Amino acid sequence: MTKSAYTAPDNTGHYGGFGGKFIPETLLKNASDLEQEYAKAKKDPAFWDEYTKLLRNYVGRPTPLYHAENLSRKIGGAQIYLKREDLCHTGAHKINNALGQALLAKRMAKKRIIAETGAGQHGVATATVCALFNLNCVVYMGAEDIKRQAPNVARMKLLGAEVRPVESGTKTLKDATSEAIRDWINNPEETFYIIGSVVGMHPYPMMVRDFQAVIGRETKQQIIEEAGRLPDVITACVGGGSNAIGMFYEFLDQSKAIEMVGVEAAGEGLKGLNAASLTKGKKGVLHGAMMKILQDDYGQVTEAHSISAGLDYPGVGPEHCYLQELGLVDYTSATDTEALDALKQLATTEGIICALESAHAIHYATVRAKEMSKDSILVVNLSGRGDKDMDTIMKSIELD
Ligand SMILES: Cc1ncc(COP(=O)(O)O)c(C=O)c1O
Repeated sequence: MTKSAYTAPDNTGHYGGFGGKFIPETLLKNASDLEQEYAKAKKDPAFWDEYTKLLRNYVGRPTPLYHAENLSRKIGGAQIYLKREDLCHTGAHKINNALGQALLAKRMAKKRIIAETGAGQHGVATATVCALFNLNCVVYMGAEDIKRQAPNVARMKLLGAEVRPVESGTKTLKDATSEAIRDWINNPEETFYIIGSVVGMHPYPMMVRDFQAVIGRETKQQIIEEAGRLPDVITACVGGGSNAIGMFYEFLDQSKAIEMVGVEAAGEGLKGLNAASLTKGKKGVLHGAMMKILQDDYGQVTEAHSISAGLDYPGVGPEHCYLQELGLVDYTSATDTEALDALKQLATTEGIICALESAHAIHYATVRAKEMSKDSILVVNLSGRGDKDMDTIMKSIELD
């Protein structure tokens, strides 16, 4: 398939053999109400006007596209540009999506919002829009993540959200998501579930992608203004995959060959504990959709690991699985150590402390840029800032 012929998902929410709606009967009405409302909102200019206005005046869009000249010079290859999603209000791309879904919740007159969070960025973004729109907010978060992302837990509470610790399983994002789905099943009438990535049952992967696609649209315009042409390579880290698809989607219809590379978390290494579902996973159902998941021979989901809570998920959005299968996007991975080194390198060369998640993409960018000529262009989506990770960073990097 050529990129310009790409039209997924189909009208049942399938991306080839991935995606769909694998949900209990009790959730069918919720999912189909949401699907219908989003279909209406998608065609309603007033919905997008309100959304775009808030993106500009509340989130601070467009975010800059920054030419990282120091880093590019140090690496000695391609010109590296950073799409500064770390400069969004609340510190990551997650607010683009949380805002869109909160506007939908308002349209549907839902007063209670639930969300899951890993790194806490989606939880903070959701708590933020709930404060803005006066909605009750409950955020499910794994007990392990509560420990490693303490500043974000405090932010959510300050914003008026209730943070519910999840003690089951590995106490990380997968378990928080399961708990949020359980809540939605038990409270279907009044509750709107704001999912934080391009995962879950249809229409979430499509809807979250649509809300994040602003990243790639801006990037395309900005790189043409700045460099007079489109990039050669674009890259982004992949947890569930929302910042990556947000960056890639606009470029999927290019006839010019733009290489797109998603970077998963290799954790301790691909032979050890990792979260590289696209590289090491197999097809299976998780959280309502067919996707690639880390699983054992019996189909049991296995433990994922990444130093970055936001990438620590044993599955990945169905659209990425399909794009990989079609060969339209390549996927690679970076280890915990490589991400930490990249984070340090970016901090010392450019004065930017990025999120540990984004550091995985920075690692790939530095390796790849070295192999490219000085007049080529590589764009990295810098999905978030590193404030939330300072505890982990201080434990892992020698600062003296
Ligand atoms: C800063 C940042 N980047 C990336 C991610 C990974 O999510 P996604 O793959 O949906 O962009 C997260 C998740 O919490 C995050 O906080």
